[in-house]
Amino acid sequence: MAFFLSAMKASEIRSSMEKALEEAREAATLQELERVRVSYLGRNGLVSEIMKGLGSLDKSERADAGRAANEFKDNLCRVIEERRAQLQETASKAGAYFDYTLPGRWRGLGSRHPISAVIEEAARIFGRLGFTVAEGPDVETAYHNFEALNTPAHHPSLSPSDTFWLDTGELLRTQTSPVQIRVMESRKPPVRVITPGRCYRRDTTDATHSANFHQIEGLYVDRKVSLADLKGVMAYFAREMMGPKVAVRFRPHFFPFTEPSVECDFSCHMCNGSGCRVCKNSGWIEIAGAGMVDPRVFRAVGYDEEIFSGYAFGMGIERIAMIKFGVRDIRLFYENDVRFLESLA
Ligand code: DAH
Repeated sequence: MAFFLSAMKASEIRSSMEKALEEAREAATLQELERVRVSYLGRNGLVSEIMKGLGSLDKSERADAGRAANEFKDNLCRVIEERRAQLQETASKAGAYFDYTLPGRWRGLGSRHPISAVIEEAARIFGRLGFTVAEGPDVETAYHNFEALNTPAHHPSLSPSDTFWLDTGELLRTQTSPVQIRVMESRKPPVRVITPGRCYRRDTTDATHSANFHQIEGLYVDRKVSLADLKGVMAYFAREMMGPKVAVRFRPHFFPFTEPSVECDFSCHMCNGSGCRVCKNSGWIEIAGAGMVDPRVFRAVGYDEEIFSGYAFGMGIERIAMIKFGVRDIRLFYENDVRFLESLA
């Protein structure tokens, strides 16, 4: 090109500029605009040729031509950018413009809910001890939830102020214990199951209570099962779930469906038993109710109480999740706020 183009004077440069500006303003597509840019501003474009020609102009004309060449470049750059913005806007309004270089939109991968995480971990831990998972319905009969579990009709937990009764005479189960009955009704001993699931009580919601919560029940029935077996299993579970130093203690208690009954505490995993805020300075955290299956429960399901014995336990999953993950308010589990879930990940 340089061969054919004699050096341009300022006035010629300015009229070329007007033409170029007009082409840029009239470019109908982004591609066309790019062609205009390359032909004027590209490495072999007109502006670069003009610059090269400046040297062969008379000194008197050179300064003015140089200024004109710079104006050409600056004005054209500006007009091209303006036009590009316009074209992109119209194109993206029409949905036709797509910038391949933009980074993709990241959708969070999510993570397991802490309640599910505890259930799954408990199932793995008990699974190693030979327990399988059994499930029962959330809508239960009064027979399975209370009567077969040796809970008399006058027991306060049957009252409508504690239990959600349905018009059908059924209820929303207040514990996972009725699944013990269902499992024993349908299988011959030995049985070794855990039964995680949702439970319902008419509790007023606060930082540690929810009308809807989760439990894991355990049941082991065989010949010669003893309270020592229960303690060994609870100790193993405690260490696997909370850490290797956690110890277990039993305190005498009462449940209608076990005899003897105990309350099972874990030593506090935060302070190793020396007392802290998590364990309210006692060094222990109450985790489960448990005991040896009451012979009346065996009678209700047709198991021979002379031959078989067994232990059962039931623990609150939220409780475990709260101390394991340091969650202070039970309501956080049900609010579906991803910021909470992310903070645990
Ligand atoms: N179902 C009892 C509750 O909700 C917990 C429990 C206690 C379960 C003793 C058991 C047991 O299996 O043996 O408070």
